[in-house]
Amino acid sequence: KEEKGCFGAADTDFAVEEERKEAARAFAVVRGALGRSYLPLINGEYVQTAEVIDSVNPSNFSEVIGKVGLISVEQAEQAMQAAKAAFPGWRRTPVKERAAILRRAGDLLEERRAELSAWIVLEVGKPVKEADGEVSEAIDFCRYYADEMERLYKGINYDVAGETNRYIYQPRGIVVVISPWNFPLAIACGMTVAALVTGNCTLLKPAETSSVITAKLTEILVEAGIPKGVFQYVPGKGSQVGAYLVSHPDTHLIAFTGSQEVGCRIYAEAATLKPQQRHMKRVIAEMGGKNAIIVDESADLDQAVVGVVQSAFGYSGQKCSACSRVVVVEAIYDAFIHRVLEATKSLNIGEAELPSTQVGPVIDANARDRIREYIEKGKAESQVVLELSAPTHGYFVGPVIFGEVPPHGTIAQQEIFGPVLAVIKAKDFAQALAIANDTDYALTGGLYSRTPSHIQQAQEEFEVGNLYINRNITGAIVARQPFGGFKLSGVGSKAGGPDYLLQFLEPRTITENI
Ligand code: NAD
Ligand code: ALA
Repeated sequence: KEEKGCFGAADTDFAVEEERKEAARAFAVVRGALGRSYLPLINGEYVQTAEVIDSVNPSNFSEVIGKVGLISVEQAEQAMQAAKAAFPGWRRTPVKERAAILRRAGDLLEERRAELSAWIVLEVGKPVKEADGEVSEAIDFCRYYADEMERLYKGINYDVAGETNRYIYQPRGIVVVISPWNFPLAIACGMTVAALVTGNCTLLKPAETSSVITAKLTEILVEAGIPKGVFQYVPGKGSQVGAYLVSHPDTHLIAFTGSQEVGCRIYAEAATLKPQQRHMKRVIAEMGGKNAIIVDESADLDQAVVGVVQSAFGYSGQKCSACSRVVVVEAIYDAFIHRVLEATKSLNIGEAELPSTQVGPVIDANARDRIREYIEKGKAESQVVLELSAPTHGYFVGPVIFGEVPPHGTIAQQEIFGPVLAVIKAKDFAQALAIANDTDYALTGGLYSRTPSHIQQAQEEFEVGNLYINRNITGAIVARQPFGGFKLSGVGSKAGGPDYLLQFLEPRTITENI
């Protein structure tokens, strides 16, 4: 196992034969369990639903991973009532007990690492090594937020002579977690366990295309000891059940990760006071990015090429942190583009479960078609310098690189969320930085440079939540690189960082004259 640090659960070391065998055994077990049914968990019971969807393998869409029951609005209301009933007991449950449940969940995730990783690979088409890293992130969230809550609940004393002043935190109430498909385990787990450990009752509505993995997370949370009604798994349609829960007067907080379009809609809807609502809702909305890496004339091109290719094409560009723009200074533009093309040509494209695969499929037919449309728009406004072919039995799009892209072109401004890289030429570093900053987003960014003044200027002026210098720009680690953006990339404190849990808590000051 590869050690990562104080909170870093160790990733699988696939160089070790026994670890590879374990992964192969897990795939065999998971393959034997494909096509089963998964039901919502409402008030401690798995309930039948009128509507059932197939969740399919994006690498091979004729393979059904599981059949998922989607709840109706009436069932969403039952879940809300169960959450309200469970809240008084859960808020009084000692923090030590709540934290212990999270640590047990972390241990169970670790015990089931190989199996969970196989489910991620098969349900959302994420290559094996990245799926394994995602399980580590989920484990880290459980352990880190358990520790964080134990730190916070002690509160602060501001006592003076004759007067005690205690600053303490209480839970907010009912949290609706709405998660995306691209980190189906880690992000769903992180938002959910943060809400739970802070004493809130929590409803998890996953993305439709990744509901089997969240059903596995549900099994784990139940086994770890979360009481009935405190956590409920409510798969359903975003526009119907998701929207209903967002607008519900009993919802106190919405923890959302997903697209800018949906995030903005949720933000607006949550601001509208409903009859009988006696609180303002809080919204955490982690949204998209149009992340740039700047490569200046002093960069180590060996490092820069590897970092750009990994950041742009890892998980087929379907990470909010992915690099979709690289801004290269004129002096090295030709050399850089030549090398980036050669490196990209050598990527293995194929089914996510093959150990050699570096670029797998995209999530579904809609995503594939949307990405293809962007590629056509890109062809109309700039020059294709590389377009790789890909298998046809799944939802594949081969990596595409555009050169000399105008900084305000569609493919330089809109989040494509696929394996498409726009290379933009800048006359010098100052112009490169201005181009990098000239988008609606501020999530991740990178700089390859050996010029101290450029590194200093980027630290001060590169408008991104997570800035990476001389390394790839994806794969933030909990409690090492707390993660999140600003501008139209989101509102809220960084996941995996010291301010995150505060969002789920209401602070109170209690003064007593003694
Ligand atoms: P999406 O916005 O389509 O869906 C996200 C979730 O919202 C799903 O569960 C969906 O069912 C639900 N939803 C859809 N419409 C809704 C509505 N009207 N009301 C309530 N819920 C609704 O996003 P996606 O395709 O699942 O994920 C990809 C997006 O997520 C990309 O834009 C990516 O950048 C972003 N993302 C951001 C981060 C981050 O940390 N900033 C991390 C991962 C993904
Ligand atoms: N936290 C994820 C990353 O850093 C999105 O890639």
